Amino acid sequence: MFGLLTVLAILLILADISQVEMEFGFSEGRRAMKSAKDALQNKCCREEMITNTSSAVPRERIERKESIQRQARLLEIPEWKLNTTLTARIRKDILKFLDAEKDISVLKGRLKAGDIIHYIFDRDRTLNISHSLYELLPRTSPMKNKHFKQCAIVGNSGILLNSGCGQEIDTHEFVIRYWLTNRVLIKRPTTGLLMYTLATRFCDEIHLYGFWPFPKDQKGNAVKYHYYDSLTYEYNSRATPHTMPLEFKTLRNMHLQGALKLNVGECKLTTQS
Ligand SMILES: *[C@@H]1O[C@H](CO)[C@@H](O)[C@H](O)[C@H]1NC(C)=O
Ligand SMILES: *[C@@H]1O[C@H](CO)[C@@H](O)[C@H](O)[C@H]1NC(C)=O
Ligand SMILES: *[C@@H]1O[C@H](CO)[C@@H](O)[C@H](O)[C@H]1NC(C)=O
Repeated sequence: MFGLLTVLAILLILADISQVEMEFGFSEGRRAMKSAKDALQNKCCREEMITNTSSAVPRERIERKESIQRQARLLEIPEWKLNTTLTARIRKDILKFLDAEKDISVLKGRLKAGDIIHYIFDRDRTLNISHSLYELLPRTSPMKNKHFKQCAIVGNSGILLNSGCGQEIDTHEFVIRYWLTNRVLIKRPTTGLLMYTLATRFCDEIHLYGFWPFPKDQKGNAVKYHYYDSLTYEYNSRATPHTMPLEFKTLRNMHLQGALKLNVGECKLTTQS
């Protein structure tokens, strides 16, 4: 549990490094981030490599085979069961450092016309609060005292296409969708975790859809990087199972522990609830 939160915190820190790196092109930043990530991955998920030195099979081929097997294991998402003890603990811990109502709501009374606010995902971008915008702001957070049994967080992956998950997603009381335009911040690896962190404030159960950083689905079919455009180059740079599994690994671990439900395959319409 503590480990989980540590990983969450470290991810948020890494995201910041990555943002700086994107914006200024620091190669130092990139190296530091990479080694931090590698260290983290090795620490949390090292698997023993067994190589038979007397074998005639070249070492690289063995490693490649093992790496493919590792990836295949990573892609398996086992059955899910909600762990209410764990979700209660995570909510309590997150509340210690994040007040979702106060920290992310733009409300009358907290600011005035003429103020400038910064976007969460792109801190260089600002928005001027005009008089007409100010008039539209609510006085209290729409999330205040709200509570939902099941929430869905919908990511950007093309895995959503033809998944048949639309109807299932719509059955959730509250659905968080976000899509980022083709800006630098699209590479920010922690959007899903950030959304999850916010959602813990008012959701009992959090189900994720459309989080899939791999170019192929579990059946080996090609997956578009985004469901809404035709970007593909991202896979070549960062989003291969080797370079970008950290967020996914974290989400998968949280799924295994019953903290959130990660949906990656097709949705079969079952009328539960
Ligand atoms: C290593 O490979 C050799 C040749 O393929 C085989 O005879 C031997 O049993 C293997 N040893 C182990 C420990 O797997
Ligand atoms: C639920 O999570 C708690 C805290 O991590 C853990 O101690 C417990 O064993 C989990 N229960 C189940 C049924 O997995
Ligand atoms: C926001 O306000 C600042 C100063 O008040 C001004 O310099 C800037 O151009 C404004 N930006 C927009 C997008 O209106």
